Amino acid sequence: MATTSKSTSQSGRFTTGPSALMLRFSESVSFDSRLAVYDIAGSKAHAAMLAHTGIITAEERDAIHCGLDTILAEIAAGNFIWSIEQEDVHMNIEARLTALVPAAAKLHTARSRNDQVATDMRLFFKDACSQIETRLTALLRTLVARAEKDQSIIIPGYTHLQRAQPVSLAHHWLAYAEMFGRDLERFAVVRDHANWSPLGSGALAGTTLPIDREFTAKALGFVDVQGCPRVTPNSLDAVADRDTFVEFATACALVGTHASRVSEDLILWSTAEFGFATLPEAFTTGSSLMPQKKNPDACELLRGKAARLQGHVTMLLTLTKGLPLTYNRDLQEDKPPVFDAFDQTLICLEVLEAVMAGLVIHATRCEAAASDPNLLATDLADLLVQSGMPFRDAHHAVGALVKLSETQGCALDAIPDDAAQLAVPRLPANWKSVFNLRSALAKRNNSGMPGPKAVADAILRWKANLSE
Ligand code: ARG
Repeated sequence: MATTSKSTSQSGRFTTGPSALMLRFSESVSFDSRLAVYDIAGSKAHAAMLAHTGIITAEERDAIHCGLDTILAEIAAGNFIWSIEQEDVHMNIEARLTALVPAAAKLHTARSRNDQVATDMRLFFKDACSQIETRLTALLRTLVARAEKDQSIIIPGYTHLQRAQPVSLAHHWLAYAEMFGRDLERFAVVRDHANWSPLGSGALAGTTLPIDREFTAKALGFVDVQGCPRVTPNSLDAVADRDTFVEFATACALVGTHASRVSEDLILWSTAEFGFATLPEAFTTGSSLMPQKKNPDACELLRGKAARLQGHVTMLLTLTKGLPLTYNRDLQEDKPPVFDAFDQTLICLEVLEAVMAGLVIHATRCEAAASDPNLLATDLADLLVQSGMPFRDAHHAVGALVKLSETQGCALDAIPDDAAQLAVPRLPANWKSVFNLRSALAKRNNSGMPGPKAVADAILRWKANLSE
């Protein structure tokens, strides 16, 4: 079988290099080259630390730094040649560095690819979380702006997809703001969990050389709010642990789930049957066959992407659950799901924001649907409760009125007073006064409720939160 020349990781112990098939099978540079900026930052900090502790000279450090800057520039310019012979991002960069500066041979002192990749990924997670947080904040601003604009529009709230009780449309948007707001907090937690430096853990058992872990932690920004360095407390855990991967993917999957639920609402609302909303044309598609069609593809894809994001969580949990400590090569497979989760979450948030910003609401259709008097049946029961009737009896009495309206083929609020009084002897004379949509909502102004005052307060709270 054809073999290739020995790779950086093989050196002395091997007589032949890996087979071409093995190279193709085992390379990760095709996907981990995107870690180059973090890998170079990690190497620079490591070289600085080696000089600081006297393991290499200041000249050697400077030569290494200079070489790494050259490589960074080559990568940025698209001139860097990635090769699968060098397997992964770490060895590609090291091989090129060695060709540029002789001092590169000292860079891997007191370091292993195991703590190196763990460091790269922690830097990646901190950056990725910040980027997602920025997009989530933008989406929240759009949702809150929408809520402010749609404050006077009333829609039926649904349970079981059956009309239940009226709510303001703003309240509906703010429900999603709460979900995405929790997502924002979740990413801040993941960012904090990622914020520990594994450098110095070596392959699994640290090093005998006099390194300064706090130095590299500080140089790479692995610090707490006081600026104190944070170093991982156990070398075995540092190279074996993939919790942050799972947490990050889970946070992404929840964003996907929330985006999917908004999308499902919008898909329904934009049907002829509902007619509450029209989706922005730029985020819909036509049919190749039916000329009249305008399909909600962006929203459908948002729903579909949620499945993909959930799959990544399952993949990562399955990948790690049976692994003995510490590093096993299986773990190389941890990166594609994480990168995809990041890319898809970012674009989903961008698309959802654009859809929300361009959505046109049909207030008259919403109001017509919300004006179904059955939506205020519970308010009528509440009126009976206020006149002293136990709720269960009130529920039963109003149920009888709903049934009467159905058998008589008239709306609940159109039942003649005498017939209603006959069915519910203790019905107050002013019973029809509950059937006023706006005054009904005005009674729901307790905190967290859909009344106009409560919703206005919620909007103010959100605006204050988001202006920080
Ligand atoms: N490309 C490898 C990965 O992503 C880097 C770590 C390699 N370590 C090793 N012991 N082979 O997992």
